[in-house]
Amino acid sequence: MKINYIKLVMWALVVSLCAYREGWSQTSGIKLDAIEKIIEGMTIEEKVGQMTNLTLFSVAIETDSTISLDTAKLYEAIVKKQLGSIQNIIGRAYHMKDWHKMITAMQKMTLEKTRHKIPFLYCIDAVHGANYVYGATQFPHNIALAATFNPDLAKECASITAAETRAAGIRYNFSPVLDVGRNQQWSRLGETFGEDTYLVTQMGTASIRGFEGGDVSKSNKVAACMKHFVGYSVPNNGKDRAPANIPDIVLREYFLPPFREAVKTGVHTLMVNSGEVNGTPVHASKYLLTEVLRTELGFKGVVISDWQDILKMHERHRVAASHKEAVLLAVNAGIDMCIVPFDFSFTDDLIALVREGKIKESRIDESVRRILQMKKDLGLFSKPYLEPESMSYFAKPSYKKTAYAAAVEALTLLKNEDKVLPLDRDKRILITGPASNLLSALHGAWSYSWQGDKEHLYPDSLNTLAEVFAKNKSVMYEPSLTFKNDVWDKNKVLAAATNSDIIVLCLGEAPYAETPGNIPDLAFDPNQVDLVRTLAVTGKPIVVVLLEGRPRIIRDIEPFCKGIIQAYWPCSQGAQAIYDVVYGKFNPCGKLPYTYPRFSGTLNTYDHKLLDEAVEVAEPYKYVYEFNPQYEFGHGLSYTSFSYKGLAIDKDTLSGSDSIKVSVTVSNTGTRAGHEVVMLYSRDLYASITPSVRRLRRFQKLFLNVGESKTISFYIKKEDLAFVNDQKKWITEAGDFELMVKDLTKKFFYK
Ligand code: BGC
Repeated sequence: MKINYIKLVMWALVVSLCAYREGWSQTSGIKLDAIEKIIEGMTIEEKVGQMTNLTLFSVAIETDSTISLDTAKLYEAIVKKQLGSIQNIIGRAYHMKDWHKMITAMQKMTLEKTRHKIPFLYCIDAVHGANYVYGATQFPHNIALAATFNPDLAKECASITAAETRAAGIRYNFSPVLDVGRNQQWSRLGETFGEDTYLVTQMGTASIRGFEGGDVSKSNKVAACMKHFVGYSVPNNGKDRAPANIPDIVLREYFLPPFREAVKTGVHTLMVNSGEVNGTPVHASKYLLTEVLRTELGFKGVVISDWQDILKMHERHRVAASHKEAVLLAVNAGIDMCIVPFDFSFTDDLIALVREGKIKESRIDESVRRILQMKKDLGLFSKPYLEPESMSYFAKPSYKKTAYAAAVEALTLLKNEDKVLPLDRDKRILITGPASNLLSALHGAWSYSWQGDKEHLYPDSLNTLAEVFAKNKSVMYEPSLTFKNDVWDKNKVLAAATNSDIIVLCLGEAPYAETPGNIPDLAFDPNQVDLVRTLAVTGKPIVVVLLEGRPRIIRDIEPFCKGIIQAYWPCSQGAQAIYDVVYGKFNPCGKLPYTYPRFSGTLNTYDHKLLDEAVEVAEPYKYVYEFNPQYEFGHGLSYTSFSYKGLAIDKDTLSGSDSIKVSVTVSNTGTRAGHEVVMLYSRDLYASITPSVRRLRRFQKLFLNVGESKTISFYIKKEDLAFVNDQKKWITEAGDFELMVKDLTKKFFYK
């Protein structure tokens, strides 16, 4: 088996060299005019084939242990229908050798049996590491990366993901999510970088730089995909793929900026929101996909549909009376490539529409040009086959350290009453709870399978929390209930709790991804609430570790817990990271990237309007609205303490293109070294559109030794203070502003 695999790699090397010698000799492939030449010679069928994208399942057969291509189906797709790309999987992760074998076969068939030999492109969701490739590193999900407030770390995780994806022979990654996670109930919150536009922009663009690195022809880079454009993350009903009503000014101020900044990085592709905004499916919106995206934002790359979304325009959104009409709307709106993904309905209907003159061939050419440009940039014309050197980037020992750093920096200490943490190593600990012995609970969505819930697919080399905690002799593990609401042996768990000094309770959500993760509200699982209450009777201090993709309501269990750690989905190194924080080897520094709600019926973000927190008391009715979340955005405790002093600005009036310098001194006043995230907020005191109570404008992460102080400075320009007015224009209105760092405030005037 191994020898065959080596042969395959050698063969790929030889074929790559031949392709190189045959004339595709530039580093990144053919010249642009050569692309025009190819397009000139292409039939409509060949062009539309490039725009069609199917799932691997349409050409492969998977069993429990194997995956193999169905050669007849592959021939039908690649040779007869001129298919230019295939994506993803449905079942599970595969080993590198399986990926190599399949992708090489697809490329070989394309180059040997098609007229123009336009190289084939394989695409995948490598969402938090190359999660469909065995042996690759699994990093914490984006929501956890956001909690690190460390864009360099996000970039490094993406860069390793790119290298390990490319090593598997895959050059296009449907990542990162740039949706701003402003609805905590949405099942994809864990895939976002949180609720703040600025934070999402910083982390998202860092991630794109990590994936693409400026030159995607390199054998350790991939094309990235900013997604899902736009307005996907605030569904009216909190469910995945649901309608959203977003006023244009809100869409522009809160949801467009990450995409606008990502365009500036040169990102190659964009995926469209599966939902509908203001009554128009985004796949049908020429306004969003052409006017805003192309004309205003200047995006030049490939726009790919999401899964089956053109079909859904007919079947679900009902803006098209037939599939063919849906294709017409979508392509005219600006879609370049369609994830169909099971059949050739898109292909056939699009060909017919061009022949009937309903879609201009020049419109098709635009899309094909973009797709071929991407293939060229990826080096596919010059190096269409596996790049043997890319394999040297796979599974480097240092990657584990990055995964650990990301997991440990993300851990957010929400509560630490009586300084219950860090724990004394000699204390007898009981570790229990449904998340204590499941790798899937640590990993969540998109882990070795789409839903991440197939425990048997996780590699044996990974450790659960119970396994990692077992390193300490004074820890005992006792299983309690599972996520499936099984019957559990209360007496056994209670007896173990009675014999312990402290209980570490691992709670949260069973893994899910996308629509299967829809929930009616954010209430915590009642069985887990019961577990907390049951154990609380023992009077032993309880430390809860939360493993969850979104904040489930903990109002009723919080009073029973001395300590609470938000771990998000920390993945492969998560258990070790939690262990190290619990025992104080690492001083926690994560900060909440969202507002942790107290009530399911009161979901809000930190940058809400003043009216959201107005307090009205009118006798005899006495009613109070207030902003009172469980934990605020940016909250996160440390085992040390920090003091902030001397907030200063270098001018009281800002004008023109000038900037204001803001300085502050931060000191570690506690007894341990630690990281602190310094956040600078601004507040517009009066504006023609109601101002938010505060907006995050800058942040910087510092490391301070005991007794150490650092003075840091931020620079703020008028653009940083701007909002979108009722004319849909970004504007900074003259008037008073405040800058806030922690509880320090400085006021200045903008004119
Ligand atoms: C998801 C996308 C993903 C695509 C391809 C869809 O269901 O919404 O985020 O990239 O599938 O797998």
